[in-house]
Amino acid sequence: MAAKRVTRRVGTFYGIGLGPGDPELITVKARRIIQQCPVLFLPQGGEKEDGLALSVIKDMVSKENQEIISLPFPMTLDPVILDKAWGKAAELIAFKLKEGRDVAFLSLGDPLLYSTFIYVYHAVKNIYSQAITEIIPGISSISAASARALIPLASGSQRVAIITGVNNHENLENIIDEFDTVIILKISRSLEYTLDILNKTGLTEKAIVVTRCSLPGEKIYNDVHLLRGKKLDYFSLMIVRK
Ligand SMILES: C[S@@+](CC[C@H](N)C(=O)[O-])C[C@H]1O[C@@H](n2cnc3c(N)ncnc32)[C@H](O)[C@@H]1O
Repeated sequence: MAAKRVTRRVGTFYGIGLGPGDPELITVKARRIIQQCPVLFLPQGGEKEDGLALSVIKDMVSKENQEIISLPFPMTLDPVILDKAWGKAAELIAFKLKEGRDVAFLSLGDPLLYSTFIYVYHAVKNIYSQAITEIIPGISSISAASARALIPLASGSQRVAIITGVNNHENLENIIDEFDTVIILKISRSLEYTLDILNKTGLTEKAIVVTRCSLPGEKIYNDVHLLRGKKLDYFSLMIVRK
């Protein structure tokens, strides 16, 4: 008699967007998968991102029945240190998937926009190429901020640029010149520099900053020049709309 082949179930790797922080801005699909998934990973940077992610999901999860794992990621631009951290996270995720358990990696906003998930996804694929991945998009901070500030991002043939304030973007003046709308994430890292460029190009009045969008302490600044010398919350972005 031929031996019966037993195929072992492998888990699905979910990249889930949580939206900007208000638990009501999470999608129905994300909520369902978070409730069903036995293993949840929360990336933890230096700026309390996991605390925020946890506050979004706290009413959806059961600490008794689900494994909720905080993954610390170093706040550095050193590629060697980062590679090591992503690799370590990927090993842990691949291990759980091979055990047959579904794993969800939770990201604030959308998982495919400047998110740690992108690196971890590649690292998981590197060590476990058969991993089945499904991505559940989330409302990005950009959509949330433009909605709260009642600012359209683009219409007709207008063009939009999305950049980050890390490293004082050296082409900022050209980008602002070329695009109708420029969104700068991580603006807390380059506020003074950006204010200088806005001043130089006469666009200070066309910029707004949204801080902690949809979260307690949310603020919308229309007079961005008043922010000079201030330390902005990490969860802040700027929209320049010409
Ligand atoms: C690493 S990026 C992640 C972006 C995220 N994946 C998204 O789709 O919005 C972090 C930056 O997103 C912006 N951000 C995220 N959540 C925010 C919020 N609730 N309010 C304002 N800006 C936010 C800030 O510029 C922050 O520095």
